[in-house]
Amino acid sequence: MVGSNISKWTISYFAAAVVWLLAAEALMAAGFGFPNAGLQAADTLIVVHMVCIGWLSMAMCGALFQFVPVLVARPLYAEGWTLIAFLLLTVGLVVLLAGFLALGGRIPSWSSLLPIGAGLLVAGFLLAAVDLGATLWQARPLPAPARFVLVGLVSICITILFGGIFALVLSGRATGAVLWRLLAGVPIHAAAGLGGWLTLTAMGVSYRLLAMFMLAPDNGVRLGRVAWFAGTAALTIAVVGGVLALLMAAGLNIVLALAAAPALIALMFYAYDMLGLYRSRKRRALELNTRMTVWSFASLAAAVLLAEGLLATGSFSRHVGALVFLAVFGWLSGLVLANLYKIVPFLTWLEAYGPVLGRVPTPRVQDLVAERRAAKWFVLFFLASWAATATLLAEAPFAFRLTVAVMGVATLGIVQELVRARQLADVAEPLRLPAGTSSPRLLVARN
Ligand code: HEM
Repeated sequence: MVGSNISKWTISYFAAAVVWLLAAEALMAAGFGFPNAGLQAADTLIVVHMVCIGWLSMAMCGALFQFVPVLVARPLYAEGWTLIAFLLLTVGLVVLLAGFLALGGRIPSWSSLLPIGAGLLVAGFLLAAVDLGATLWQARPLPAPARFVLVGLVSICITILFGGIFALVLSGRATGAVLWRLLAGVPIHAAAGLGGWLTLTAMGVSYRLLAMFMLAPDNGVRLGRVAWFAGTAALTIAVVGGVLALLMAAGLNIVLALAAAPALIALMFYAYDMLGLYRSRKRRALELNTRMTVWSFASLAAAVLLAEGLLATGSFSRHVGALVFLAVFGWLSGLVLANLYKIVPFLTWLEAYGPVLGRVPTPRVQDLVAERRAAKWFVLFFLASWAATATLLAEAPFAFRLTVAVMGVATLGIVQELVRARQLADVAEPLRLPAGTSSPRLLVARN
């Protein structure tokens, strides 16, 4: 990534994302939403969308605005759109959450809130998807990681299409038998969002980033091919088959079971590829971000085993909340936090020292972080996310709140480490700010 431009608003996306994560953890620790409320209760929808849109999707968009241009060695199609998308997504999410509050009777009902929030979110995500998609389009034929990102972008479009329909129907703005049937498509909306958008994109990004961080050769054209085909097949079956089933007023169970088989194959080949990269790495001692990425992979493997266990024992629908929690926090959130711990210091280093590189002595990227101090927060975060999953399985809501509070403390610790990196607080003095450099701003990059 050396020599690449810094996307000005990427750091702002990350900052907003961690604020949403902390807010969602605080609500869960206070007993708001699942498991104290039902899975489809309005309070649960609030927490779900704070995490899925505010935390994970904002972090993913910020990372992609920086990463996609590096991946295809082309500038971002329209850098100016990133701020507009940021504003649309942030305001849209706040209005959507207000719509959910009204739906649950917590504030006076105003039926326009849900469709307005949805409209702003659809506009924000579309802007981001077109910007990133057009950047990829200029660089055909696409390298393997970019093909994952492309399917991820298609998936977010499917997710928001369903989200928009739900918002219109639930607010009473749209009626009609077909739309009412599509309202039963919540599992398709969730699968396209969590599986297609967040998981496939994260897989694609990690093929490239892990190879880079571990100094492993990733130039095999076949690398990731089976995982990509199988993942795309799973998504296609879930969406196309799911919509057909809904239109015929049939249940989704068979379609979802059919999609699960290629999804499992995709994850197995992904694990195989990651192991291959790990074995062929040239960097023997791994940095904290890579070690913690491995912990997030462990959570993903545990989620797959848990899903199989729940299916085998016939308790899938009873414990689906625990399964989604493990996937969202142990796997996706753990992975994103681990990667932020590398990307934030790296971008900060590039911003602070890029202009004087080669002219004056500068610190290394690793001088911006204190891994031993940060490690304990990551360990705490993963242990707490696994413990919280166990409390959900044991149906112990109070213990769940305690473990989520611990996750929140761990998140605060990790955020504090990111802030310190931005402030160059751990860089030893003579090298900290050589002539011609200035300390980066906390929330917006100078590019
Ligand atoms: C335009 C943006 C979005 C809108 C308007 C929206 C709206 C909705 C609505 C209204 C529901 C409830 C449907 C029902 O119960 O009948 C829902 C459920 C859900 N959404 Fe979204 N959504 C959006 C984006 C997303 C994204 C990007 C993700 C994930 C990355 C996501 C994940 C979920 C999940 C997991 C559920 C199921 C929650 C549960 O049952 O507790 N949504 N969404």
